[in-house]
Amino acid sequence: MGEGRYTGNGRSRPERAALVRLLRDSGEVDVGCYKPVLLDRQMEVRMSVLGISSPAAYHRLLVTSGAEREVLAHRLFVGVTSFFRDPDAWEFLRSAVLAGLLARDGGGREIRVWSAGCCTGQEAYSLAIALAEALDPQEYLRRVKIFATDADHEAVQAARSGLYDEQELGELPAGLRAKYFVRQGRMLCFRPDLRPAVVFGRHDLVHDVPLSRIDLLVCRNTLLYFSPQARDRITDGFHFALREGGFLFLGNAELLLNRRDQFELVHPRRHVYRRRPDRGGPPRARKVPLPGVPVRPVTQGHSVHTGRAPR
Ligand SMILES: C[S@@+](CC[C@H](N)C(=O)[O-])C[C@H]1O[C@@H](n2cnc3c(N)ncnc32)[C@H](O)[C@@H]1O
Repeated sequence: MGEGRYTGNGRSRPERAALVRLLRDSGEVDVGCYKPVLLDRQMEVRMSVLGISSPAAYHRLLVTSGAEREVLAHRLFVGVTSFFRDPDAWEFLRSAVLAGLLARDGGGREIRVWSAGCCTGQEAYSLAIALAEALDPQEYLRRVKIFATDADHEAVQAARSGLYDEQELGELPAGLRAKYFVRQGRMLCFRPDLRPAVVFGRHDLVHDVPLSRIDLLVCRNTLLYFSPQARDRITDGFHFALREGGFLFLGNAELLLNRRDQFELVHPRRHVYRRRPDRGGPPRARKVPLPGVPVRPVTQGHSVHTGRAPR
């Protein structure tokens, strides 16, 4: 391991490979799926916080300290989120996508939504609010199922609680905040009567089998952290997960450039795509495994069920 600084310049270096192995072998996180620059950046932050100036010294600490490995692994999840993040994109989703999905086949059909990389739940509850605004409460409970998943189990636990402080709810318009949150001491809780439509679970986008029969897949500000190979694998999983004609809603900095055969762009600035029909043959998610990365079957331990056995 050299004594030079991590520069985040994206070169493949032996010291980075050693770290990827260390974190993967210790069961913390499969760092190899993320862009190298993310690991470099998060390591620089940790070294600066700890006052460590050489990568070699930080590597020695990682070898001996499980606690530090956990902290670094957790930082790789980049848990930044907010309610209705990028309001213009959400307004487009509401008016151009949700309205159409809800009116499909004369209305009345179930709508299955997947918030993939849901972090601490703000995105999933934003979806719940957007759908509850469009339907009456009984219809919302009867028709809406929102599966919200993340690889970070601490984030999923926080999301499940539905509890947020004043600051976290700060971005939400006052009317929605009063209508959809009830006070619990110093915190505010998402309305318990609407909560059953939202199901949270731990799910790793690279390693776990995708959900299925999804009408709207929201995966925002998550794909951009993955390596091109992992991103390809995840995108294949999204094609598998979505019903024909289903929608994919990405973050403002995320584009599917090489997926014209699988997804059609609905709106270039809002980063909404529509799933194209299968061209025949098994889905690519099953055909192209990422070297060295096993696909985990859905097991009893998963708290998110697809309602259908994986193909
Ligand atoms: C920047 S946050 C985005 C949160 C939310 N989608 C938004 O746009 O506000 C990225 C999320 O992706 C999750 N994530 C990272 N790697 C993942 C993986 N392999 N599988 C599932 N989620 C992952 C992180 O835990 C984190 O919550």
